[in-house]
Parts: sequence; C-alpha cells; structure tokens
Amino acid sequence: MTFEPLDPGKALSFLSHPVTIITANDGKQLNGMTAAWTTQISIDPPILCTSISPLRHTWDMLKDIEYFGVCQLAEGQEKIGMTFGTKSGRDLDKFELMNLEPFMAAHDVPLVPGSLAGFVCRKAHQTEQGDHWALFGEVIEAWQGEGKPLNWHRSKYLE
Ligand SMILES: Cc1cc2nc3c(=O)[nH]c(=O)nc-3n(C[C@H](O)[C@H](O)[C@H](O)COP(=O)(O)O)c2cc1C
Repeated sequence: MTFEPLDPGKALSFLSHPVTIITANDGKQLNGMTAAWTTQISIDPPILCTSISPLRHTWDMLKDIEYFGVCQLAEGQEKIGMTFGTKSGRDLDKFELMNLEPFMAAHDVPLVPGSLAGFVCRKAHQTEQGDHWALFGEVIEAWQGEGKPLNWHRSKYLE
C-alpha cells in the first residue's frame, strides 16, 4: 500500500462526516442548516463542536444566542440534508418548505423530526478558525429516533 501526495487544501475531503442539521431559534424565526463538520469533543461533560461559516444566516442567529440544536440525520433524510444545506433561512422557512413540523425541545430549540438523534446544546465557547467559526456546545438534553446514520464523504452522501 502506497501513499500519493495530496493538495492540503483538498485533502480534508477524505475525512468522513455525520450529516447534521444545526438549528436555531432567535425568538424571531426557527431555522436550521446542514453541517457535516460536527463532532464529539468530550464525554463528561458531553460536549460537541460544529463548524459554521460566518456567511450563513444560521450563524447570524447563533452568534448571540445561548442554546442551539444538533440533529443527526438518518438514512432516508437525504432530501432534508440537501434542502437545509442549499437554501437559506434568509429567504424562506425551510421547515415549512419541507413540510416538517419542528419538534420543540428544551429552551424552545427546534429539532428535525425523523432524525436518528437530536441534541439541545448550551453554547460553551465559540472561536473563529480560518474561514469558519467553531461552535462548542454542552449537550443538556438528548432525544433518540430510529434508523441508520446519514454520512458525508468526498462531497457526496456515503453509500
Ligand atoms: C452536505 C452539506 C454539508 C454542509 N456542511 C456545512 C458545514 O459544516 N458548515 C457550514 O458552514 N456550511 C455547511 N454547509 C452549507 C450550509 O448548510 C448552507 O450554506 C445553508 O444553505 C446555510 O443555510 P442558512 O443560510 O439558512 O444558514 C453544508 C451543506 C451541505 C449540503
């Protein structure tokens, strides 16, 4: 088995990721966006981190609020992942567009129904790293759904 050199700027697409929806309720609207760059950081306390571009409308909402949601999508939710990942809450209500009734969890955080799991996070820290913001959240409430996880690898859903 041999290695071939890779352009560092393109190499990270070799990492595989969960397909998550990061949700926000700023008191004016409910919104969510697809984020593949989401991972666990700590067991005790349970902390996760997700990476959000400041260009996202969701970031405009998230940067000043204390609680947010993270949903791990399940197989079968590919269309939700694509819609929440290509349309902006600046222009429309993605939940309404997809005919989804958000599941309202603790602190009025909306979760995507049908997800494999949903977490309500209290923001622990946020830091600008390169062209994204790393948002750390402590999981304070969790919900379990059904199915198999939807994953992302090399710019497409992992089969
Ligand atoms: C599969 C997939 C994964 C994505 N992962 C991220 C991510 O990790 N971070 C990010 O900032 N944007 C990510 N995006 C792009 C946002 O989801 C997209 O720009 C979205 O339309 C933003 O919505 P908003 O304007 O309502 O915030 C991803 C898109 C797709 C389709």
